[in-house]
Amino acid sequence: MCGIFGAASSSHVHKDLIEGLSKLEYRGYDSAGLTLISKSNKIKRLRCTGKVVALKKLLATNNLMGNCGIAHTRWATHGVPNLKNSHPHNYGGFSIVHNGIIENFEEIKTFLSKKSHKFSSDTDSEVIAHLLEYFSKKHSKLSDILLNTFKKLKGSFALGIVYEKDPDKIIVASNGSPLLIGMGKNANYISSDINALISKTKKYISLDDNEFGIITKDKIELFNVKGKRIKRSASVTKQNTNAISKNGYKHFMQKEIFEQKDIITRVIKDKLGTSKILPNIFGPKSDSMLKSIKHVHFVACGTSYNASLVAKYWIEEVSDIMCTAEIASEYRYRTINVPKDTLFVAISQSGETADTIYSLKKAKQSKYRSILSICNVAESTITRLSDYSYLMQAGPEVSVASTKAFTSQLIALLLLATTLSRASDSKLESKIINQIKSLPRILSKTFELEKKMQLIAKQFKNKNHTLFLGRGASYPIALEAALKLKEISYIHAEGYAAGELKHGPLALVDKNMPVVGLMPDNNLVTQVLSNLAEVKARQGLVYIFTNKKMKLKKNDKTNIISMPACGHYIAPLVYVIPMQLLSYYVAINKKTNIDQPRNLAKSVTVE
Ligand code: AGP
Repeated sequence: MCGIFGAASSSHVHKDLIEGLSKLEYRGYDSAGLTLISKSNKIKRLRCTGKVVALKKLLATNNLMGNCGIAHTRWATHGVPNLKNSHPHNYGGFSIVHNGIIENFEEIKTFLSKKSHKFSSDTDSEVIAHLLEYFSKKHSKLSDILLNTFKKLKGSFALGIVYEKDPDKIIVASNGSPLLIGMGKNANYISSDINALISKTKKYISLDDNEFGIITKDKIELFNVKGKRIKRSASVTKQNTNAISKNGYKHFMQKEIFEQKDIITRVIKDKLGTSKILPNIFGPKSDSMLKSIKHVHFVACGTSYNASLVAKYWIEEVSDIMCTAEIASEYRYRTINVPKDTLFVAISQSGETADTIYSLKKAKQSKYRSILSICNVAESTITRLSDYSYLMQAGPEVSVASTKAFTSQLIALLLLATTLSRASDSKLESKIINQIKSLPRILSKTFELEKKMQLIAKQFKNKNHTLFLGRGASYPIALEAALKLKEISYIHAEGYAAGELKHGPLALVDKNMPVVGLMPDNNLVTQVLSNLAEVKARQGLVYIFTNKKMKLKKNDKTNIISMPACGHYIAPLVYVIPMQLLSYYVAINKKTNIDQPRNLAKSVTVE
């Protein structure tokens, strides 16, 4: 997703801008740029397609310096990723960087073109610079120019603006897209992401929707949409700086796959007693709120949505609570019936996914009993908008492909299911806790499959399609496995409920089609085996992940990957590990950009 960074300081900031952008690269982008206010109070801009390192070289050759500036990494929404569409956009002494989508940009563009404005890009963002110039001709006070401009904008925006007539100031504005102000020593900073601030300062202020600010090196003024000054206390982030490093691994994804066991060990230490979950782990008084819940609506995107599907199986199995799991981009436009005592749960690693944010805002206008979020970023928009929040504390997940966040979400959701089970089966809690406590040992054994997955991955290198099959709570794991393989190896993959195979996908199966069956030894083994037999009868390449002891006939070419025995409830967390490893090693063989796959962004902050 786009990234914004800016600095106003008593010293030169050009290096800070590059360093800030480098901390935002993990979000995914295709061009970068910056503007500095020169000694002669002129806006000096540099932009390039490609990586931040190219912008750094451009900066060095142009020898640009200044004490106030803004910078941006762009993930293209409106307008292809080329130079003219990259940010910052300049007009009439203003230079702006934008994250979000201006929904009424064509209308503004038409209005200003009639006033002989010439546009140089195909972006929505550029209209903001032109509007600022338009209102600067009608108002002399900066706040009037800003208020009139922001009032015209419809849609989501996080903005960083510099203006030649106020050369030591950075103007910020936010609506539906996050923007933080970092409070430094003889300097203040702006960023769309806490990760870019923590090497400068841990003290920050978050802008809320429809707020704007004027920042200098030693002053921060905040205003609401009516231009009234507002007070906002500073927060201090607990995040540490070395979280954004590979610690010797080849890729962030590899590091984050192997961090999962330690993260789960930490959850066990922090959240579990001997045979009970510690009180109120979902926020103050959350236990009593959860006692009143009769229905749960999960809303999420991508991997987080797959986690919510697993939770639906768990909760409906251990309680009499009805659950729905909805894709946020569908939920936000659907008519939703909210029965009495329904809990809304937003699941999001970044806490900044636009569709999930809009769904949560819609939920806040509905009759939900409460809103709970399960997030990995404490200072995120979704956390701030929720009544209750559970922080996964998985550490920053840098690789676009989500791995440790997924299993951290699953653990949180299993603890939620267990808490909700108390009303219907008081004995279940200790049983599930014991299974969770066995996870570190079982995951250690599961990671021993790494070498085997490297070998199997070689067989996928030239494949164009793959099917992943599962039943019950393994079905969402099949979906997650397919998403992983798709997004980092670019091989088309689908996850399917195994029972659905004969309702269509079986037509795809031939001797070139790998079919991966996830088959924990449970009550559905017979059914999964018969589905896989349908594949074998059509010479499909079958890979079965199971802890069931299986004897194959002599010429049966089925690949059996023996999994460690594990408890019924924790099987999804165990079976996803070889799927993550498989997709990682297939991507290694295909030499793709594993941590920043093409076209993808880490946090999709636009719809
Ligand atoms: C998963 O590997 C992807 N990176 C993507 O599907 C992601 O899970 C989705 O965009 C949701 O992100 P969030 O959890 O930050 O809301």
